Amino acid sequence: MRVLVTGGAGFIGSNLVHALVVGGHEVGVIDDFSTGKMANVHPAVWLRHMDILDPTLPDVVAEFAPEAVVHLAAQTDVTRSIADPSRDRAVNVEGTTAVARAAAAAGVGRMLSASSAAVYGNPESLPIAEDALKNPINPYGSSKLEAEAALAEALAGTTVDFASMRFSNVYGPRQDGHGEGGVVAIFAARLAAGERPVIYGDGRQTRDFIYVGDVVGFIVCALEADSPLAGPMPDGPAYNVSTGHAASVQQVAAYLSAASMVLKQPEFAEARNGDIADSVLDPGKAASALGWSAGQSLDRGLAFTWRWMCANPS
Ligand SMILES: NC(=O)c1ccc[n+]([C@@H]2O[C@H](COP(=O)([O-])OP(=O)(O)OC[C@H]3O[C@@H](n4cnc5c(N)ncnc54)[C@H](O)[C@@H]3O)[C@@H](O)[C@H]2O)c1
Repeated sequence: MRVLVTGGAGFIGSNLVHALVVGGHEVGVIDDFSTGKMANVHPAVWLRHMDILDPTLPDVVAEFAPEAVVHLAAQTDVTRSIADPSRDRAVNVEGTTAVARAAAAAGVGRMLSASSAAVYGNPESLPIAEDALKNPINPYGSSKLEAEAALAEALAGTTVDFASMRFSNVYGPRQDGHGEGGVVAIFAARLAAGERPVIYGDGRQTRDFIYVGDVVGFIVCALEADSPLAGPMPDGPAYNVSTGHAASVQQVAAYLSAASMVLKQPEFAEARNGDIADSVLDPGKAASALGWSAGQSLDRGLAFTWRWMCANPS
């Protein structure tokens, strides 16, 4: 398959691109390197260094002529989304529309677009299913929710099959601490520097941490699915991509400390305003529609991540 990956130089994108190349697919990458790194880009890919908002995007997508598009490029920093909500919205909403229109014009068969657990905000109950109330609590979450609608609008009446992927907190090799879900990368970097991880609040807040290899597995499964993704299921063409298991931030610090053998007790700092107490996404729809489920346990995933960091110091 010819697969175009926007944001292919970033954390999730570069892991996906490596897996696709190794799997024998022809892969194109579009990335503006705002957070992505050239060192992440597999040498075998067709690469264009550009902003997805560039008006020449349709020509560039047509030049690669993909059969499928995986749209991961985004402004992913919650703090930056608060400081500059209009840039966040431009990249995440208008950028998704631009990629979707370019994909449709190029005759793409399927488009997968990254969304986020941030669309739900503070949940009413756990685990959160796709049709739960959406009440984002920051501009990043709002732009991701709007991007889902923009994707559906841009592709309505076209032959492109599409889905939005609501990732929970993704961690693993090639992550750095800047974006969403960066707590693992931040803790690991502090341990590597011989420093204590800093936990905001009491550390009992929980998240649904998913290993990036499992996210890549979901995307490959969705790309290869025989039946359309955008079926009449709960909440339209949106899938939670998650483990369904809660882990506390304290547990992450303890597992990383064990994996690294850097036995540093975490330091506690005042809880940050607006932090969600608990978030776990129900991955049942992905299991029933695609037969996919996350396989990596948190302790092993964190051990892999630590080993990768040690072998690839930045
Ligand atoms: N990492 C997580 O835990 C997580 C959780 C939920 C959702 N997501 C979503 O998954 C996707 C990938 O996230 P990530 O963690 O790999 O982030 P990342 O920042 O590592 O990757 C994003 C990539 O997009 C590129 N990019 C940004 N703006 C661009 C633009 N205007 N034009 C072209 N390229 C641009 C960046 O250079 C980078 O390579 C994003 O859409 C993000 O919102 C991530």
